[in-house]
Amino acid sequence: MMTTTPTALANKRLAVLISGGGSNLKAIHHAIENGLLTDAEIVLVVSDKPTAKGLEWAFTQGLKTALISPALCKEAEVSFEAVLLDALLEHQVDVIVLAGFLRIFKAEVLTAFAGKIVNIHPSLLPAYGGKGMYGAFVHEAVLANQEAHTGCTVHLVTADVDEGEVLGQAKVPVLPNDTVETLAQRVLEQEHRLYAEVLQRWLPTI
Ligand code: GRF
Repeated sequence: MMTTTPTALANKRLAVLISGGGSNLKAIHHAIENGLLTDAEIVLVVSDKPTAKGLEWAFTQGLKTALISPALCKEAEVSFEAVLLDALLEHQVDVIVLAGFLRIFKAEVLTAFAGKIVNIHPSLLPAYGGKGMYGAFVHEAVLANQEAHTGCTVHLVTADVDEGEVLGQAKVPVLPNDTVETLAQRVLEQEHRLYAEVLQRWLPTI
């Protein structure tokens, strides 16, 4: 009699790319540790900034980390993208998760990981997206326009900044006394929930 052994589904291997605090990285890590995000593992955390607090945190968690300095790449006359792709290949990365990563990718990365790069943006795209719309600038613009709502969006990354397919959104009300800081904080809380939720739904489809 023939018996078949069920083949275990391999975890999706995530590289999380950051430039700053890394609170979304922490939220994704937390979701994995607590079984809210399954069949996924963070195999590499990359920062383009030595000062990124999230990089230090990742190191203390025992995650593999890489600092790829654009300045050092320039000095060594190698492209940032080539060094990044080498690191992604070495760690057999399936998916690039951008979490506050401030560089815009060149074609070689977009081509190598077509349909497998996601980003989180602190607005309800297509509103308040595009070049120059990041961080406090987004929330400043939302407040200046007296919007009743804002929110966050997880989307695929393509050559057109913030224009890839939307995978999920969360709405956040703008309150009468909101400042850039209070609004950013409430949006960030939703980002943490949304990112893991979208990854859990989307990763099995790729
Ligand atoms: C978040 O607001 C995210 O939407 C944007 O950059 C910020 C990153 O925050 N892309 P953190 O580093 O994850 O705390």
